[in-house]
Amino acid sequence: MPGSRITAVGHYQPTRVLTNDDLATMVDTSDEWIRRRTGIATRRIAATDESVTDMAVAAASRALAASGLEPARIGLITVATCTAIDRCPSIAAQVAGRLGLPAPVAFDLNNGCAGFCTALACADHAIRANTAQHALVVGVEKMSDVTDWGDRRTCVLLGDGAGAAVLSAADSAGIGPVAWGSDPTRGDAVRLVDGWHPSFAQEGQTVFRWATGELPAIAREACARAGLSLSELAGVVTHQANLRIIDAVVRQLGLPESTVIARDVVESGNTSAASVPLALSKLVERGELRTGAPVLLLAFGGGLSWAGQVIDCP
Ligand code: ACO
Repeated sequence: MPGSRITAVGHYQPTRVLTNDDLATMVDTSDEWIRRRTGIATRRIAATDESVTDMAVAAASRALAASGLEPARIGLITVATCTAIDRCPSIAAQVAGRLGLPAPVAFDLNNGCAGFCTALACADHAIRANTAQHALVVGVEKMSDVTDWGDRRTCVLLGDGAGAAVLSAADSAGIGPVAWGSDPTRGDAVRLVDGWHPSFAQEGQTVFRWATGELPAIAREACARAGLSLSELAGVVTHQANLRIIDAVVRQLGLPESTVIARDVVESGNTSAASVPLALSKLVERGELRTGAPVLLLAFGGGLSWAGQVIDCP
């Protein structure tokens, strides 16, 4: 099987918008500090009774509808998340049940914020190995469940949401070879602490330095593996952690002015494994990327782990 391509995407965000001014009534912070240090203006927060599975179903059903495929055609579903409370059955199995997928292989994957790009590579590999013809890949997080709302260093950063993609076997590869790995020596730089009721913690400056130092080389590697030069990219969708990181990486890559850069972090905050598919789906929905255009996906997070690949835009 020569490869697979993304044929459709979809996303979901909760309705509740939390502004920086709202946060300033909860902790000692300000709109000015948050925008200057992170670029974030708003984030979406799920309702108390809205689960990771609910959000995953909403995004996945939109992607599936956009693909035009009958649910029975999906042979594999994988959900990337690190905030699911349910350990068994997996979120993927629950989503499969709610969408009426009759017999897919279904599993969750936790690779922190790099989870969606990792899961995308795994699904692509499964299709290349001819073990599935069509796959559904979801990135979803309810970060508000793992947020310490009294900690101004972290609560201003995070948001909830989901994004999904449908992959189908194709005669030409629409998903390039993945560049992925991890640095376990920095494994504690991003973490969920305190076991069953965890909260998000990180060494912000360590991660910032790592991301701005290492991501450009990983971006170049993903492009080289896809046989493309950086200037041929129509778009770049990085993990949406901090606008300053995105802009620093883009500057170092020396991309042409015409390259579309995802900056969804401004309105959605950091949604971990959901951030890349969410930002991609919004760009596609707004018609900012044409079908078939090469787009670099590039994610990083807890581990410290990373994964990136060039895709043909759906
Ligand atoms: N409002 C006001 N002041 C604040 C706030 C806030 N929300 N948060 C921290 N401060 C204060 C600190 O207390 C500190 O004050 P002090 O000097 O009196 O001690 C000062 O601001 C500077 O704090 P720093 O933590 O050094 O601020 P920094 O400029 O590093 O910004 C940030 C913090 C935004 C977290 C940044 O380090 C960052 O974005 N790092 C990268 C994080 C990342 O990319 N994570 C991705 C992986 S994890 C994931 O995606 C789920």
